[in-house]
Amino acid sequence: MLLKHKGAAGAPTASADAVSLASVRKVYGRGAAAVTALHDVTIGIPRGTFTAIMGPSGSGKSTFLHCAAGLDTPTSGTVLLGGTDLTGMNEVRLTELRRSRVGFVFQAFNLVSSLDVTQNITLPLRLSGTRIDRTWVAEILARVGLTDRAHHRPAQLSGGQQQRVAIARALVTRPEVIFGDEPTGALDTVTGREVLTLLREAVDDTGQTVVMVTHDPVAAGHADTVLLLADGRIAESMSRPTADRVAERMATLGGRA
Ligand SMILES: Nc1ncnc2c1ncn2[C@@H]1O[C@H](COP(=O)(O)OP(=O)(O)OP(=O)(O)O)[C@@H](O)[C@H]1O
Ligand SMILES: [Mg+2]
Repeated sequence: MLLKHKGAAGAPTASADAVSLASVRKVYGRGAAAVTALHDVTIGIPRGTFTAIMGPSGSGKSTFLHCAAGLDTPTSGTVLLGGTDLTGMNEVRLTELRRSRVGFVFQAFNLVSSLDVTQNITLPLRLSGTRIDRTWVAEILARVGLTDRAHHRPAQLSGGQQQRVAIARALVTRPEVIFGDEPTGALDTVTGREVLTLLREAVDDTGQTVVMVTHDPVAAGHADTVLLLADGRIAESMSRPTADRVAERMATLGGRA
């Protein structure tokens, strides 16, 4: 298969990291209108950890996430996903890799309105031609608390329930890495906390890796590490963050917190 992991031989650091970026630079536009959204960012995100990406508006958080997830291509530098080099991969291979090894949870839930909850959750499996294991789907539905909504359409669900469908859909392929761009941004406090608990469980119970952009210091408090971006650079890496410490640092960086 195209997408097998490279062997650990000779690359022990790459395999310990779920995602690693080396000198990643991203420039949008050209000439006088060029904007450098990321300046030679180098970082490794260890497997089985929960990382929150924070920073002021325009600091490069979404760009970082999109480059790390293979949704966008850096102008220069290298991105490795579990040892696989995404740089230089063609769009067909990138699409296949995203389907099989990565899960996404965005603020706009991107559910298909004509499909019910179960069909939305199993969509990535059908797209990749993977056999649908009904027991696993039932387990995922139970985990996100939507067993009794399995045959409802998105329009019949609350915002929080829709977000939980999006999380279930991100979990169903058992991805190595789950990427979220403000996955709790549109949710109330209680529902947001449920979503964060689900992401935390994906790390603690199944050893997956979560990388999440957030503006919310409380949400960041669920992470193991907070990476603070400022002007396209990693200004700080904070271990075992608390909401208070994060809010304090964000304030000095001029963030919205
Ligand atoms: N498609 C694009 N074309 C040109 N410039 C862009 C594009 N996307 C982002 N940028 C610029 O790159 C910089 C980083 O943007 P990015 O979306 O990564 O910021 P962010 O930290 O996610 O901000 P926010 O908190 O507002 O979502 C910004 O200055 C932005 O204007
Ligand atoms: Mg953004």
